Amino acid sequence: MAEVAVVGAGLMGHALALVFALGGHQVRLTDNNPDTLGRAPELMATALATLAEAGEVDAAKNRQWLSTAVRCMPSLAETVQNAAVVIEAVVERPDVKKALYGQLETLMAPDAILASNTSNLDIFPLVPPGLRTRAIIAHWYTPPYLCDLVDLCPGPSTDPAAVETVRAMVAAMGKAPVVFKQMVQGYVANRLQAAMQLEVYRLLDEGLVTPKDIDDSVLHGLALRIPILGIMAKADFTGLLLMQQGMKNRSYAPPVPRDHSETLDRLIAEGRTGVMAGKGYFDWGDRSPEELFRERDRKLLALKQALRRIGPMEGK
Ligand SMILES: NC(=O)c1ccc[n+]([C@@H]2O[C@H](COP(=O)([O-])OP(=O)(O)OC[C@H]3O[C@@H](n4cnc5c(N)ncnc54)[C@H](O)[C@@H]3O)[C@@H](O)[C@H]2O)c1
Repeated sequence: MAEVAVVGAGLMGHALALVFALGGHQVRLTDNNPDTLGRAPELMATALATLAEAGEVDAAKNRQWLSTAVRCMPSLAETVQNAAVVIEAVVERPDVKKALYGQLETLMAPDAILASNTSNLDIFPLVPPGLRTRAIIAHWYTPPYLCDLVDLCPGPSTDPAAVETVRAMVAAMGKAPVVFKQMVQGYVANRLQAAMQLEVYRLLDEGLVTPKDIDDSVLHGLALRIPILGIMAKADFTGLLLMQQGMKNRSYAPPVPRDHSETLDRLIAEGRTGVMAGKGYFDWGDRSPEELFRERDRKLLALKQALRRIGPMEGK
């Protein structure tokens, strides 16, 4: 068991605190917004209840257990004091992260590891030189109590022992770390998502398809195979010759990278920002975000449990 500090209690931070607590660690959680920190216990309890209902955690892991396993505290200094690992999950802004790392250099224990959950930033130039050997990116996917992938990227000065400590820690928690040799901006999964997004927004912006056409194509086509085969094994089943011919004979050009989409801009201007607003590409009726998240989590858990029973292709 290690002492783990989570800085930032927003969408990712509160969920990461729960994940490390479920992994057997003693967690302290902080946020510089008292309202966000105040909401964290209820959000963690809701996620925990969903996991318990699906039989993923034992009954002893109840609300009372949670209140001692994760301690929420307003003070950054008290949160990180003597922690072996400090998880940084604050807003994705270089200025905010840089200022925080400056504070952490003096507050963290001399051998503690700083693990950033950044999605897109090369954080290493933002870390004070004295902390760089102990800084790593450990990037999770939402919701991290259901998604097992953790991208681990060292910086140019990161001590390999720090990478190994975090890798072993998350692997022991039943997660699936992918260790990169160096900083790979966007990792693999986010790069694939970004490439898919470019094509999705082109199809929408050019008025060629509807959002439902896109999701139908994914749900009834891509989605069935990906959980068993991934992308590379699926290529083996397609046959590499066809993959080669597909590249040669492609009848349309890949999308040109753009920094915006007219469809996305229009929806956002209309207040259709997604589930939290009750509508985005789809209308989610008058169901609360909590109810929608709960249904999503229940269904993802059922799928995860089925996939665990089915297993991947042998030899993969
Ligand atoms: N949202 C996702 O799906 C997702 C997935 C993977 C990684 N990430 C990354 O995780 C990080 C957090 O993202 P999020 O979606 O949870 O954002 P969020 O806005 O929900 O939460 C960020 C929190 O950081 C707090 N904060 C800001 N400055 C702080 C400081 N100096 N000290 C303490 N708390 C501070 C804010 O009050 C806020 O509650 C980002 O780096 C993001 O790129 C997000």
